[in-house]
Amino acid sequence: MAPRIILIGPMGSGKSTIGKSLANKLSLEFRDTDSVIEQRENKSVSQIFIEDGEAAFRAIEREVLHQELKASDTVLALGGGAPISTEAQSALTATSSHVVYLDISLANVAPRIGFNRDRPLLLNNPRGQWQTLMEARRPIYEAIADTVVDVNKRSQSEIVAQILEVLA
Ligand code: S3P
Repeated sequence: MAPRIILIGPMGSGKSTIGKSLANKLSLEFRDTDSVIEQRENKSVSQIFIEDGEAAFRAIEREVLHQELKASDTVLALGGGAPISTEAQSALTATSSHVVYLDISLANVAPRIGFNRDRPLLLNNPRGQWQTLMEARRPIYEAIADTVVDVNKRSQSEIVAQILEVLA
């Protein structure tokens, strides 16, 4: 078994918001790799980056992804970097889950990432760092996705409705 739906995409694309709404509509449990990591480590993502470093965060993230891919009947949102390792790419390609990539432009994500909440990778220059990460990651998101959803200038309900239609 595997999660029913896996949401991938960059920081600020709305994976958690859309994921919660989808899970609610489908009566599935919503899971989120960042939240699982925070509960497991009993500290925030930022704290892990600052105190232990990115490599330590990625190692935990890999374990959490591996574990969450075994869960059935969930909607799983992945941190923006979780699908990027070659190991994660293979696991996600092999899964029976429907992988949905939420695609958003820099112009539309900018207002959401300007006020950094808990995004250690965007600390100094949020837009520039977001764009650099996105340029490197976009081809990977596209390659893994079963469905690409353009979330630019669309309401949460429109996005959820489109995903439900694809799944029907
Ligand atoms: C990251 C994205 C974050 C979080 C961490 C690293 C990334 O998750 O996992 O800050 O590498 O893109 P969100 O995409 O949910 O913000």
